[in-house]
Amino acid sequence: MLALRRTEAGVLEAKAPLKVVFVGPEGLLGSGKALDEALGGLLGRAVREAGLKGEAGESLLLALSEGHVLLFGTGQEGDGRVLGGRLAQALLKTGFREAVAEPYGEAYPFVEGLLLGSYRFDRYKEREERGLTLALSGVEEGVLERAQKVAQGVAWARDLVNEPPNVLTPSALAEAALGLGAHGVEVGVLDEEAIRALGMGAFLAVAQGSDQPPRFIHLRYRPAGARVRLDLVGKGITFDSGGYSLKPTESMATMKGDMAGAAAVLGAFLAAAALGLPVELRGYIAACENLVSGHAYKLGDILKTLSGKTVEVMNTDAEGRLTLADALAYAQKEGAERILALSTLTGAAVVALGEEVAALFATEEGFGQEVQEAARRAGEKVWPLPLEGSYREKLKSPVADLKNVGDRYGGAIVAALFLAEFVKVPLVHLDIAGPAFARKAHALGPEGGTGFGVRTILALAEALAREGA
Ligand code: BES
Ligand code: MN
Ligand code: ZN
Repeated sequence: MLALRRTEAGVLEAKAPLKVVFVGPEGLLGSGKALDEALGGLLGRAVREAGLKGEAGESLLLALSEGHVLLFGTGQEGDGRVLGGRLAQALLKTGFREAVAEPYGEAYPFVEGLLLGSYRFDRYKEREERGLTLALSGVEEGVLERAQKVAQGVAWARDLVNEPPNVLTPSALAEAALGLGAHGVEVGVLDEEAIRALGMGAFLAVAQGSDQPPRFIHLRYRPAGARVRLDLVGKGITFDSGGYSLKPTESMATMKGDMAGAAAVLGAFLAAAALGLPVELRGYIAACENLVSGHAYKLGDILKTLSGKTVEVMNTDAEGRLTLADALAYAQKEGAERILALSTLTGAAVVALGEEVAALFATEEGFGQEVQEAARRAGEKVWPLPLEGSYREKLKSPVADLKNVGDRYGGAIVAALFLAEFVKVPLVHLDIAGPAFARKAHALGPEGGTGFGVRTILALAEALAREGA
């Protein structure tokens, strides 16, 4: 891991054994120029001789008698997070234990990127990577503190996704959520009996194929003086085999990540409480496994949802929308004014937008735009898809109010239309099936859980607080 601290010293006079100098397409940048002068033009010569073009990700470690210098390419002006993330990974590879750098560009995203980029999930490996402490010159205390709290929320969400499904069962997810109690979040967990008593028939049907009991988690963060409220719903399938509509091995391989929506909600609560955001947050997670057994739900089953609507099951792999239908109805019963739902809902969203961009669906345009803007500020990629009303007929069932799947086409839209059937208050749904789980390492982290959504939730909560103030 990378530990960050602030230093009053500039890069030039700092005593660190390794100094970071940025190189852009125009040559040495920022404090690199002063350092170059002090070294009699040595850095500039190294840049020319090594043919560094200042491209993103270029890096060259120089051993000088005065100490080591890492020349690091910035590329054209881009997201400071990506630069920070790449630098963190390059620094960890050097094997040094200490270094100094001055942020390039806007400090906040750069610092956030450093922390996100250095995330590792190695608790099941015998050998852990060595850590490095990076002293940051010219960074305000508030910037570092904020980035650390946000990154902690993201890291927790990533950990929860990365935990294997034999460890992170629905009960284990509930236990993890209860840990938020120590941070000033009220957490309640309903067991199977309580879930049945409430009438969450769709959620229970998905859960019934597993020997692991389901858990319904509700969260409440109520800071004094909060004038706005945001309700969050996260898909919490701790493993999705597809049920009797069984997934092939390749598709099932990453399905421990089918609780990434829940993880984003939990990560956001942790960070929001640490930051003391002046917004009331509520969270709801229907946690269970989707498995096959003699008591699993079947095709043709008709389920009674908490909302009162009945659903005919035509595909047991469309389980997320069933659990979410009950969680959404519960949120509404709890008095939600607006709901943001995050779920790894459809492969169709990944086909439509690829692995990096989440699909955004909004039942109210204004709220949709607010979420889109929040995501943009947070550096998370989302793009709207339409809640095309004429496709609602794909969900018609001859025997129940709805069926749980449409035909081959427009799968992400149809799933979002299904969710919208269960709430009357404004709903934005982020289908994060693509960006929740990285199949390979990237600038902001290793392969595995990304914690996608945590930063968008926080940015949205902050915007709502500003509006409400
Ligand atoms: N959890 C999956 C969606 C998913 C796919 C998440 C790929 C992450 C990566 C969801 O439960 C699912 O199986 N959806 C089905 C819906 C279909 C049966 C209508 C799908 O996308 O195939
Ligand atoms: Mn599924
Ligand atoms: Zn699923």
